[in-house]
Amino acid sequence: MSFRRDPILIAMFEHVTEEQGAAYLDIIKRDSPDLLGEQFALYRRNDKWGSPITHEYPKIGRVSPVTLRYLKIISDLELLFGDLTGKRIVEIGVGYGGQARLVLARWRVQSYTLVDLEPVLDLARRYLNDPDIQRPLNYVPPSSVVQASYDLCISNYSFSELDRNVQSAYAGSLVSSADRGYLICNVISQVHGIESWSKSELGQMHPGAHWIPEEPLTFAGNEVLVWGDAR
Ligand SMILES: C[S@@+](CC[C@H](N)C(=O)[O-])C[C@H]1O[C@@H](n2cnc3c(N)ncnc32)[C@H](O)[C@@H]1O
Repeated sequence: MSFRRDPILIAMFEHVTEEQGAAYLDIIKRDSPDLLGEQFALYRRNDKWGSPITHEYPKIGRVSPVTLRYLKIISDLELLFGDLTGKRIVEIGVGYGGQARLVLARWRVQSYTLVDLEPVLDLARRYLNDPDIQRPLNYVPPSSVVQASYDLCISNYSFSELDRNVQSAYAGSLVSSADRGYLICNVISQVHGIESWSKSELGQMHPGAHWIPEEPLTFAGNEVLVWGDAR
């Protein structure tokens, strides 16, 4: 299975450059150096499947820059929200499940719910079908989304790209009721002819939501919408 070299999947999930990988690594070293210690073996397992493109990085060897992006997000989540052990997490727009794998490697959560289109969930299901990965994992296609409470909602380069009707449905059922939120938002929908919520509409989704910079900035206008954090 070499899905991480599939041109369509590269365009959707795997388009992180070697330089961006180095920038993610610098931030992890600065903010959460422990993640690069003994635990790092757990996170680099993300590169064991799918034949990802990897690069050589100082001290840690060959790693996919996408895996470094997922690890930098683990660092952000830890700085913002502390220990996520025992939490109920929902992720909207999961790709092949790489971010889920790293969250599940970092914390023993109560549950992890993955929301995406059915064919994408099929890939994530196969990817996360690993005895080392803790359960329960819930796979939810758009047609099965129901109102539920979560401790944390994650959505990276996904919620912000959705059609406003879908955003509105997810906001009501999954996002607004989550106690904490971490959503990397981009503003590229118009390029694809999709009408999505504006930044100001996204910002009003949850009381207390505020914007923090995307670091490193991967596209002009990107920012991270956060709420429920300790800052
Ligand atoms: C740009 S990718 C980002 C994937 C992943 N979060 C990452 O950072 O690599 C956008 C994701 O949104 C998903 N998506 C598209 N329509 C969706 C919908 N209606 N509900 C949930 N996810 C959707 C895509 O299948 C894809 O996995």
